[in-house]
This record gives sequence, C-alpha cells and structure tokens, in this order.
Amino acid sequence: MGATGNVGRQVVAQLVAAGVPTRALARDPETTVFPPGVEVAGGDLTAPESLVAAADGIDSVFLVWPFHSTAAAAEVVAALAAQGRRVVYLSSTAVNDAGPQSDLIPLLHAEMEALVTAATTQWAILRADALASNSLSLARQVRAGDVVRGTEVAPSAVVHEGDVAAVAVRLLTEAGHVGRTYLVTGPRVVGRAERVEAIGAALGRSLRFETLPVEVAREMMTAAGLPAPQIESLVSMTELRPRSDLITDTVAAFTGRPARDIREWSVEHVEDFR
Ligand SMILES: NC(=O)c1ccc[n+]([C@@H]2O[C@H](COP(=O)([O-])OP(=O)(O)OC[C@H]3O[C@@H](n4cnc5c(N)ncnc54)[C@H](OP(=O)(O)O)[C@@H]3O)[C@@H](O)[C@H]2O)c1
Repeated sequence: MGATGNVGRQVVAQLVAAGVPTRALARDPETTVFPPGVEVAGGDLTAPESLVAAADGIDSVFLVWPFHSTAAAAEVVAALAAQGRRVVYLSSTAVNDAGPQSDLIPLLHAEMEALVTAATTQWAILRADALASNSLSLARQVRAGDVVRGTEVAPSAVVHEGDVAAVAVRLLTEAGHVGRTYLVTGPRVVGRAERVEAIGAALGRSLRFETLPVEVAREMMTAAGLPAPQIESLVSMTELRPRSDLITDTVAAFTGRPARDIREWSVEHVEDFR
C-alpha cells in the first residue's frame, strides 16, 4: 500500500533488490510505473472490497494511512489482516504510549495502531520520525529565492525515508518481529532552519529559513487549495507538538550502518531543488 509514495516507493525498490516477490497496490495500475518484476494490483484504500483481491495470496502487507481520519479504516484493516496475513503499519514516533496524544497526527496513528493490533496477532508497528522527504515541499520556494518561509515544526531526529524502508523490508520478510513496535529515527535532532541550510549546502547556496505565524501559514495553505482536514492536522502539529530528543539505533541495528543525516539526503535530492 502507498507503493508510489516517498516511503512505499523505496520499500518496493528494496524488496525487489532483495529478490522478494512483490505486489504493489496502485489506484491506476495501467499508468503507474514500478521497477521490473513488480506485480501491480489495482485497488483503493477508500474501497476496502478492492483490497480483498489485491492482497489475495500475499503473506505480508505494508500499510500506510495517508488520510486524516480513521473513518472506514477498520474495514481496510480487516480486509488486509484476513488469511493470517502479516500487517506492518507505518506509524509515527510522535505517538505517546502514556497518552494523551500531543496533536491530531499521533492521535490518528494511535487509533490506527489500535485497529491493526486488534485485528490480528500478526502485526508489526514501525514508528518513523519526521521524514526527510517532507523537505520536498520547500522546493518551489528554494527555486524562487534564498529565503524559505514556513511555520516552525518541533525539532526531531528527521529520518531518511530510505532508512525507514530498509527497516520495513525486514519487518515484512523476517521472522521475529511480529507483535513488536520499532522506533526509527535519524542520527540527530534538527529543526526546519537546519533542514533548509542542508539544502543550501547541497546547492552551494546560502539559504535562510524565516518563521511564519501559524495564521499566515493557514491562510496560505487554504489559498493553495489544501484540504481543510490536512490544514488542521498540520496546524495542530505546529502549535502542539513538543520537541523530540529521541534518537534510536534501529536503523544501524537492522542495516549495519548509521542512519543517514539530513545533509546526505539533501545531497542525494539536490536535483529536486534546482
Ligand atoms: N511525513 C512524515 O513525516 C511522516 C512521519 C511518520 C509517518 N508518516 C506516515 O507515512 C505515510 C507515508 O508517507 P509518504 O511520505 O510515503 O506519503 P506520500 O508520499 O504522500 O504517499 C502516499 C501514498 O498513499 C497512496 N494513496 C493515497 N490515497 C490513496 C488511496 N485512496 N488508495 C490507495 N492509495 C492511496 C498514494 O498513492 P497515489 O500515488 O495514488 O496518490 C501514495 O502511494 C504518511 O501517510 C503518514 O501516515 C509520515
């Protein structure tokens, strides 16, 4: 699921590279391009009945939930968890096991985790820190000038989506991870200004981050046509999410190499900002 997304695309590529037979879900299977060898199944997460056939014969499924509500999620989870299938759910390190949740995003993920773990014993939860790929949303501003404006997002150990995928592949394919929750972070805590600086360093430019008031950002997101639930999720995160100093060694434990830094990600993605 989510096979065309930032994380899912990497999961598919890494499964193929590891020689694992892989089926990718696509809303439009006729036009979506995947690496050679990937079987493509049509389906839609808003149409649970479409997932029954799409997942038939599959042992393990990678589930992302790209929505802002868990309405209808129970049916999706039930369809995927059928036939004793393993469900690896991509959650967030912002989930607070002690509760309450800081903002709408970990609230959503906590609800999804509860649905998944109630639907099957064959679950594994991968909680990821903020993805490095979130910086792609800054590309238009970077191309336009040296000042990048946005709301401050609580600093945390931003993680390379390829490192998240590397852990996901192991949870999908190896024994011993069922019934466990893994926290996956990058190597150091960074704020938005450092993320912008890293892109500048990769480009050989001096970029500067300027904080926008939340209300201005809300107006800009509304004008840009973002759906209201997405705006409310982002605003609640901006206003309520505390800084996270959590740094885990999960990536190193699974891959034998350190988690990649935002600077490495920026160098790899430099063409996305030109
Ligand atoms: N961003 C973060 O910092 C962060 C941190 C922790 C966890 N997460 C979780 O990770 C998830 C994946 O992140 P990402 O950056 O890989 O997301 P993304 O790039 O936005 O990808 C979303 C994926 O979901 C698919 N999708 C959307 N609506 C669908 C539908 N109705 N039916 C089937 N597929 C649908 C998209 O397919 P199409 O190509 O058809 O649109 C795409 O493959 C997020 O949704 C979030 O829950 C994110």
